[in-house]
Amino acid sequence: MHHRTLFPRYRPRPFRPWAALILLLSAPLAAQFPEKFENLQVLPADISPADLEATMESFKAALGVRCTFCHVREGTPPDFIFPLDKKDPKRKARVMLQMVAEINGTFLPRIRNDEQHEPVVSCMTCHRGKQNPEE
Ligand code: HEC
Ligand code: HEC
Repeated sequence: MHHRTLFPRYRPRPFRPWAALILLLSAPLAAQFPEKFENLQVLPADISPADLEATMESFKAALGVRCTFCHVREGTPPDFIFPLDKKDPKRKARVMLQMVAEINGTFLPRIRNDEQHEPVVSCMTCHRGKQNPEE
């Protein structure tokens, strides 16, 4: 069975021994990426933390924003509460994810008569580092 990913270009990161060290040193400063997810409505529920993190990093880069553009930080001291849907851009990003999945999964295959799966459309294709593609 061919497992179709939304973003076929993403590969698990290679093992880098120093990355674990950096993670340890930065633990008290930067929030850890969670291991379990509570409110995925579009992405697959069994997505690995590494793949979800890569996807989130790609949103950041494609729109030229930070995590706080879509996710709220609450409490004292303030910390991210990733499952909350309080910000409009997060809700819009879900629609965008569905749109991209339709383009890549339904429309592009209609004009391809072989097993070719690339090129695909990604957030970067339209946004090119901007919140609004028209900027
Ligand atoms: C452009 C908006 C956007 C940006 C920027 C963004 N996210 Fe997200 N994030 C989402 C959306 C949308 C979902 C929910 C996806 C779904 O419903 O399948 C999500 C879900 C998550 C979840 C899973 C929450 C849960 O338990 O359901 C985590 C963790 C997360 N994001 C972390 C991050 C981190 C860390 C960053 C910054 C590196 C980031 N996100 C940047 C839109 C964004
Ligand atoms: C086919 C082009 C296209 C692709 C691909 C695309 N977008 Fe968009 N996106 C747009 C357009 C156009 C708008 C502006 C819509 C409006 O505001 O009327 C927009 C708006 C948004 C907004 C709202 C921005 C704001 O300032 O409120 C978010 C968030 C967003 N896109 C996230 C994403 C994410 C995440 C992806 C990839 C999963 C993505 N987009 C892929 C065209 C695209």
